[in-house]
Amino acid sequence: MFIQLVQMEKLLGKLPAQERTISYALEGYKDVEGWIEPGIFPVTLALDAIQNKLGFTGGAIEIGIHQGQFFIALANLCDTSSDLVAIDVFEDQRKNIDNSGCGDEAAFRRNIESNCNKPNAMIRTIKSDSLDLQVGTRDGIEGGNFRFVSVDGGHSATHTYNDLLLAEKLVSDGGVVFLDDILHHHWMGVMEGFMRYRLFSPGTLVPFLVTANKMMLSKATHHGTYLEFFAKHFPMGDKKTYRWTGDIITVGISPALVADSG
Ligand SMILES: C[S@@+](CC[C@H](N)C(=O)[O-])C[C@H]1O[C@@H](n2cnc3c(N)ncnc32)[C@H](O)[C@@H]1O
Repeated sequence: MFIQLVQMEKLLGKLPAQERTISYALEGYKDVEGWIEPGIFPVTLALDAIQNKLGFTGGAIEIGIHQGQFFIALANLCDTSSDLVAIDVFEDQRKNIDNSGCGDEAAFRRNIESNCNKPNAMIRTIKSDSLDLQVGTRDGIEGGNFRFVSVDGGHSATHTYNDLLLAEKLVSDGGVVFLDDILHHHWMGVMEGFMRYRLFSPGTLVPFLVTANKMMLSKATHHGTYLEFFAKHFPMGDKKTYRWTGDIITVGISPALVADSG
């Protein structure tokens, strides 16, 4: 399934800050090693448009960078005063206990240079096992400061649960958390960790969308806004909206972005 640029603009309006993400979604991302499903780009552009319309500001942070394929898309959308933070064990791979990806800081920095509209100096890398991280002054990561938080580090249930607890502290009031590999059969720990978070010790993050191998969550206060847009307006294949784990979610196959024809 595809969506043309012209259709995206009809749906979202034209946002000049999205230009670099659009060129990255059309071509640039293919030069960065990773496993991204291209359907996540229109979803991310739509989330950015909603946040812009509502006046939400903030930066981007990802736990689990590999070589930056998704982080670059998020960083390209943020303004130059935003906090941009990339967390990975990087070369300390003995802490990558389930061998999910393989962080490479040098490759990440090269990819920022060639595909990101922000200078490398603006992007802070933190080399750490996410299990050792704290939000706050000790680790210098400011809570509530990020409108995009991506969780894609260790894929065990323990890591996922821990990283969702970090994400709920990091995300801004109207921000969105992306949880990767929620439906991937190789990484069932992600589903187990999510269930632990949502069912057994409910935190403040509520899912509203599952597509392109990611689950999108927000605080309960903004769940209705995001859900309504994706349930009613965003084009997806095999789309369905229903109650799951006590929350209403939309699921479906999101389209890849293509340039306008002719
Ligand atoms: C699936 S890859 C991330 C892919 C990336 N988000 C992208 O867009 O290409 C997982 C990453 O998590 C890192 N990682 C694994 N365990 C970790 C942990 N406990 N703490 C922080 N990072 C971890 C790995 O080094 C690897 O780079």
